[in-house]
Amino acid sequence: MANDNDDIRRRIRTIPDFPKPGILFRDITTLLLDAEGLRLTIERMAEKVEGKIDLVAGIEARGFLFGAALAVKLGTGVLLIRKDGKLPGATIAEDYALEYGTDRIAIHADACAPGARVLLVDDLIATGGTARAAVRLLRKAGAEVTQAAFVVDLPELGGADALRGEGIAVNALVA
Ligand code: PRP
Ligand code: ADE
Repeated sequence: MANDNDDIRRRIRTIPDFPKPGILFRDITTLLLDAEGLRLTIERMAEKVEGKIDLVAGIEARGFLFGAALAVKLGTGVLLIRKDGKLPGATIAEDYALEYGTDRIAIHADACAPGARVLLVDDLIATGGTARAAVRLLRKAGAEVTQAAFVVDLPELGGADALRGEGIAVNALVA
């Protein structure tokens, strides 16, 4: 049966003008509060994963929640992609532009084994700046990154298409 994920879409609210005027902020806290919504989200993200993966990489902060839950479901560990300056060991970092600013993310340089098949996870893809920086980092660390999973895609901002252009199969539950 075709499923348009309306049951997930209606559990996400949109808040206008946050964090800046003109931004329509997709607030997934309402989805997280709902046990059935969270369960369905993780189940459907897991269904879209192709083949074997060795590790899930979650992007700070909301990507940690979906990434960790998905890792448990898939039977893998979870690699943290953090805002720069938070990780205690030797790191590699990448700068990127956001829909509303700039930032820098980092991973531990020894976070994954060379050739590890890593699934990238975040709550949302907008411009794709964050996800593309994450892919650069993971590939620098030697990971094989070919798929990424999001709860929400904002297709008008072009991030998912840009990520596909870098050889990533992009799955999002709600657009
Ligand atoms: C949000 C979201 C993604 C990113 C998407 O995170 O969780 O990580 O923006 O935007 P992009 O596709 O334009 O790069 P944010 O930087 O707001 O951080 P947070 O999760 O810590 O709130
Ligand atoms: N991250 C970047 N753009 C966003 C948006 N419109 N809503 C929620 N998170 C975002």
